[in-house]
Amino acid sequence: MALREIVKYGDDILRKKCRPVTAFDEKLHILLDDMRETLAKAEGAGLAAPQVGMLRRVVIIDVHDKNGVIELINPEIIETEGVQCGGEGCLSLPGEWHEVERPLKVTVKAQDRDGKEFTLTGEGLLARAFCHELDHLEGVLFIDRMKPET
Ligand code: CO
Repeated sequence: MALREIVKYGDDILRKKCRPVTAFDEKLHILLDDMRETLAKAEGAGLAAPQVGMLRRVVIIDVHDKNGVIELINPEIIETEGVQCGGEGCLSLPGEWHEVERPLKVTVKAQDRDGKEFTLTGEGLLARAFCHELDHLEGVLFIDRMKPET
């Protein structure tokens, strides 16, 4: 495993749309392992592949709950419920913290590192992390979604 450099705001790569993963191979596993190490070191709640310079639909999330580190390949939001408003930050925008409205409950469908499909429902912080990280795959940042005057 190796630490990867986290791309910071201002880099065009954060604004690009990511391509789906088609090969569930060693290269993907190395990327995931590196992202795990990078996220742990940065003490963040989530990391998307474009944040380490890879335009691939790969996300990892760790909100320190019973799920541990969640790996999402080609994730899609299939259901949302309710609304929550709370503070949000991003490893690519250090020091920025803003109120963002997100759904309270979010169900995602994704593949694991071997290509097996699964669904997972998260509430609260996990739901927020799903939305934030999946946005990264579309080139969307949380500052695009913040409420004015916060
Ligand atoms: Co982010």
